[in-house]
Amino acid sequence: MEENKDKSNANSREYKTDDLIVYWYPSLCSHATKCLIMLPQVFDVDKRPWVNINAAGPVDIMRTIDACPSGALRYALTENSKVDPELAKGPGSIGHKASKEAAPVKIRAVKDGPLLVKGPATLLGTDGTILREADSMVLCRCGLTKNPPFCDGEHRKKQK
Ligand code: FES
Repeated sequence: MEENKDKSNANSREYKTDDLIVYWYPSLCSHATKCLIMLPQVFDVDKRPWVNINAAGPVDIMRTIDACPSGALRYALTENSKVDPELAKGPGSIGHKASKEAAPVKIRAVKDGPLLVKGPATLLGTDGTILREADSMVLCRCGLTKNPPFCDGEHRKKQK
């Protein structure tokens, strides 16, 4: 995937240290809360900025971002990073490409929530343009999202 073709990059934000850059794409965030649970000292929606990139080591942050199912959080090493580049090749890496191998795509419906797409997939818009190519996506099935076809967490308001 070429990042500049991915329409989900609009309004992205960056958080940077000497070793690591964390990118956040709010339009892709499904509020799955993996980051909040795994590394609450770094990811805290009650604080501004909500990402405190200095509150944990770069490897811990990368492993947390690798667990993000929506691809809303990504990372890259800085040019002079002291982190082993081999550790920065997870699915959350900005350079990670959707697998081209023929593996079955699995789509799981979450109870009262979105569709979790796992496996190399290409999501096309109504005009046939590529909206996203990735190994993981979170798609709305409740119809309440303000960012179709991506889940933006609105389904949770319906449950309250
Ligand atoms: S399923 Fe999450 S916003 Fe619709």
